[in-house]
Amino acid sequence: MRRIGILLSGRGSNFVAIAESIASGRLDAEIAVVISNRAGAPGLEIARQRGFPTLAIPAQGREREAYDRVLIEALAQHGAELVCLAGYMRLLSNAFVQAFPGRILNIHPSLLPAFPGLDAQHQAIAHGVKIAGCTVHFVDEQLDSGPIILQAAVPVLDNDTAETLSERILKEEHRIYSEAIRIVLTGAYRKEGRRITCD
Ligand code: GAR
Repeated sequence: MRRIGILLSGRGSNFVAIAESIASGRLDAEIAVVISNRAGAPGLEIARQRGFPTLAIPAQGREREAYDRVLIEALAQHGAELVCLAGYMRLLSNAFVQAFPGRILNIHPSLLPAFPGLDAQHQAIAHGVKIAGCTVHFVDEQLDSGPIILQAAVPVLDNDTAETLSERILKEEHRIYSEAIRIVLTGAYRKEGRRITCD
């Protein structure tokens, strides 16, 4: 398994970090397609410029499962074996999750299970935590809840804003996402219940 389908909605810096890990030989994989639900997503434009197959599939009032079926079809057509959510800001239907069992990864900017959902870095600051971070996890049917593959922690400084904290977390995101993809693609892990241990 080495063909990755990327889903993104915005800036695309995690996608770029993955593409660079592949280009530098640190990650043995291939980007099969980059898909966005937002036609104007900067990440999609970067993917286009770098010559990757890209697709914009706007939701256009389609209900969630109908939309996801279009997505599943597009990913299958491009031979995507592992789906990586890289700032994909849309809930997935159960049908989507079940179409790629154990083969969807997400990166989230918090130490899950703390602060799932939107604006995780803002939630962390508002809660007053002293340590924040990011999580790469398998996607299951619930939001930000699947088995955790890797996490990285960063300090929250007294003068942090959501923006400065996000920058510190993002550096770690870029590092651990490629590493988690490598672990999953090479099968270098064991799973017991929801506990993943890396070999
Ligand atoms: C990243 O911080 C990612 O963790 C977050 O969106 C940002 C996307 O940045 N994802 C979520 O919050 C998902 N719940 P990017 O487009 O530059 O990769």
